[in-house]
Amino acid sequence: MTAYLITGVSVVGGEPTDLLIRDGMVAAVGDGLAADDATVVDATGLVALPGLVDLHTHLREPGREDAETVESGSRAAALGGYTAVCAMANTSPVADTAGVVEQVWRLGREAGLVDVQPIGAVTVGLAGERLAELGAMADSAAGVRIFSDDGHCVADPRLMRRALEYVKAFDGVIAQHAEEPRLTEGAQMHEGEVSTRLGLTGGPAVAEEAIIARDVLLAEHVGSRLHVCHVSTAGSVEVLRQAKARGVRVTAEVTPHHLLLTDAKAESYDPVFKVNPPLRTAADIAALREALAEGVIDIIATDHAPHAVEDKECEWAYARPGMLGLETALSIALDVFGPRWDLIAERMSRTPARIAGLTGHGVDPAPGVPANLTLVDPAARRVIEPAELASRSRNTPYARMTLPGRIVATFLRGEPTVLDGKAVK
Ligand code: DOR
Ligand code: ZN
Repeated sequence: MTAYLITGVSVVGGEPTDLLIRDGMVAAVGDGLAADDATVVDATGLVALPGLVDLHTHLREPGREDAETVESGSRAAALGGYTAVCAMANTSPVADTAGVVEQVWRLGREAGLVDVQPIGAVTVGLAGERLAELGAMADSAAGVRIFSDDGHCVADPRLMRRALEYVKAFDGVIAQHAEEPRLTEGAQMHEGEVSTRLGLTGGPAVAEEAIIARDVLLAEHVGSRLHVCHVSTAGSVEVLRQAKARGVRVTAEVTPHHLLLTDAKAESYDPVFKVNPPLRTAADIAALREALAEGVIDIIATDHAPHAVEDKECEWAYARPGMLGLETALSIALDVFGPRWDLIAERMSRTPARIAGLTGHGVDPAPGVPANLTLVDPAARRVIEPAELASRSRNTPYARMTLPGRIVATFLRGEPTVLDGKAVK
């Protein structure tokens, strides 16, 4: 294994220092380090963060390898500064058995660019009718700990209760896509002023808030862990704030796009902005930013949702919801929060690693910890060109926008997956 000497780097915003990486671990941190056998990486002006961890990634394999594969999505993740991603279960076939989660896990190992931790489905086929084999997935080689029907809400309260009860035994987590389906039938965007003006059917904020309110009560009743996917409304933040104050075991995520983009984007009728939950209002964005800074929302998760051209470049009503996120998430976080490195490390690495139980991830570079880290150039600015993304899909909502920050290098267990801003393999 090659050793790497990273010089002049600011570790999570601290004073510049050197980092020696050897045998997959951080061997030393300090000024004036030397190692004859090490490859030197001049990191003057760069910031080292613990490798980012994404709790919500759609990798599309098996089934939609035209949109993304475990390998292409892993490469996109590494280029975005990630060292671990949790792969959502809405593949085809659905990841609702030990066999499918093991397949995804094995593909992740073979790609070797990030750690791919499969999420298992809560219900068979995401149909919301019968619990999937949660225990078998937990006991499989993939060691599933998070279960989600994401893309669909587990709408049946009795099923949600049973799922929470089932995972309690092994401290598992149910990650809910909170959307009351009866309130969002036919919805194309957020219900509000813009939807009225455009004549598009809207989905109201309360469709999300009602499910979160119900589920925090269920989680409290059962004593299990609930994670709320892609929180998008100010009202949801208030429900979470109250639940956390009562000590409910709930965590929550917000996506980069819900921190930046409003429903006014729908005025373009460009389906790249169609996503579920939908883009909301400026007031929602303000509440989400504040909640993330305070910790009422625990993490940023991408909801990276690649879609093939024919599923996105069509009429708004026929387009699939979802947008790319892995290769731009850190830039959006920098754009929204500025160089608050400790906040970024907490919300994009340490806390998501802890929620997912990913040992060796989410730990700041220090002697003796696994060398899972990323180097960011905060002074760089880049124009997002969809054709240059590593994802197999092109549906980024940030096309041709200039965004701050660039990932210069990413290390997974001491081996670079990205160097000089390029994927190593
Ligand atoms: O916009 C979305 N896209 N929301 C989801 O919940 C699912 C995702 C997808 O799989 O494309
Ligand atoms: Zn979702």
